[in-house]
Amino acid sequence: MEIKLLKDYEKLSSLVAVIVATQILEHPQSKLILPTGSTSLGMYEELVRRKLDWSLVSTFNLDEYIMNPDHPYSYHSYMRKNLFDKTNIYPDNCHFPFRPTLSFEDKMNVNKGIDLCILGIGSNGHIAFNEPGSSFKSRTRVVDLSEQTIQDNSRFFDSIDDVPKQAITMGLGTIMESKKIILVANGKHKLNILKVAMNGEVTEDVPASILQKHNDVEVFYCD
Ligand code: GLP
Repeated sequence: MEIKLLKDYEKLSSLVAVIVATQILEHPQSKLILPTGSTSLGMYEELVRRKLDWSLVSTFNLDEYIMNPDHPYSYHSYMRKNLFDKTNIYPDNCHFPFRPTLSFEDKMNVNKGIDLCILGIGSNGHIAFNEPGSSFKSRTRVVDLSEQTIQDNSRFFDSIDDVPKQAITMGLGTIMESKKIILVANGKHKLNILKVAMNGEVTEDVPASILQKHNDVEVFYCD
């Protein structure tokens, strides 16, 4: 698979924001899967700057820690701070994986499912919180986070002991049902895993490698 190299983080962010903005302008009732993490911050900034009409858009976040959603470091808080509170999106149209997970998946699939999915990649090749070894058929579920992910994500918390040990995540099978997928990665530390995932063996040991089986994926990277 081709990994498209962008000149810098600003270019990467604006390119992905343009893809999302175009989707919303052309299809105001779009259903989007959205990521969290540091890579997507620039994309959200650019999307907010564009003052789009989000009033008919529905969003589905990839994952959330098992923690109080009002906690300042939850993904609910991240999304409110970086997107939802700065646009005219309806809070009722902003969804996070919840239990019972089947009801969550039903909600995603009404009216022909997800139009566009934006993904990041973890340093161990995870997408959402599907850690290495996750089944390619997996659906939304509660998972244990790997030591690597807890370590990587500890930078967002006051101490590593504060990082939740579990999360609720869309499955790999769930993500693959999106009509179009964009994978975004930033930083030299992501390049090797990105190459392995996009051009190496398709294996459950590298969850992002499942994307090689999707017919509409674009991959963008800057170092
Ligand atoms: C978390 C999220 C992933 C995200 C990854 C990369 O683990 N669950 O969905 O892709 O972080 O984050 P960052 O962009 O901060 O490297």
